[in-house]
Amino acid sequence: MSQDSGEKMVKLTIDGQEVQACSGDTVLEVARQMGIDIPALCYHPVLGGAGACRVCMVEVVAWGRRRMVASCVYPAREGLEVYTNTEKVLRSRRSVISMLLAKAPAAKAVQELATKYGVTEPAYEPIDPEGRCILCGQCVRTCNELIKVGAVNFAHRGQERKVGTPYDSESAVCLGCGACQNLCPTGNIRIRDKAECRAMLTWHTDLAWQMCSRCGQRYLPARLVEYLRKSLPAGAELLEVCPRCRREGTAEDFARASVTAEQNSEL
Ligand code: SF4
Ligand code: FES
Repeated sequence: MSQDSGEKMVKLTIDGQEVQACSGDTVLEVARQMGIDIPALCYHPVLGGAGACRVCMVEVVAWGRRRMVASCVYPAREGLEVYTNTEKVLRSRRSVISMLLAKAPAAKAVQELATKYGVTEPAYEPIDPEGRCILCGQCVRTCNELIKVGAVNFAHRGQERKVGTPYDSESAVCLGCGACQNLCPTGNIRIRDKAECRAMLTWHTDLAWQMCSRCGQRYLPARLVEYLRKSLPAGAELLEVCPRCRREGTAEDFARASVTAEQNSEL
């Protein structure tokens, strides 16, 4: 609801409360800033909404028309009326959650929503009782839009639809950065740090470690270090050592500089 220079402000009501918002904000963002709870799985503040999971549906009245929209992608507009808690909204939310429960019965975030909204049964018999992926696409967006590597994408259609690396084979471009895991709302992405490599288990990709040139300990996948070196040539030498050695090096430099300054002041 902050007014950036040049952004148009609009007035709308959410659950009967009048509010001012920037016209670029989504209904979900405005509602959350007002403390109104709308569930959202495929929305992240860094990426914005995707309109994929449909748990954030709300009822809006615009230009005299009442309809259901995904609040994470629907923009705040002048005169808009939004209802986040009507019987129709709750019915839609419960039905979406029961679909998600069938798709990803083992996903904790989905189980929690089911408990909160009193959904006890999945919409249909789950194909995979251990399924955790709701096909929200956050991992795909993270890898494509944020990291700009594009190691994973959607594949197949219908019941076969999934996210993964091309042909489910080892990725030649995955950096092992783990950003996809951080932004996945359901904990579906598994990464294991082994002695010899970081294993991106969900993406069938193993990445050898970069060893610290000072202490010899592993600290990041070598491919990620190489990528950072190219992206940040000015800080390339900082990547030669692990964060701990960097901190210790800085502390030693600082101590040396303090001693020199003290000696100089005694002269
Ligand atoms: S792995 Fe996670 S982020 Fe990717 S589509 Fe599935 S639920 Fe969404
Ligand atoms: S959070 Fe809006 S559709 Fe997923």
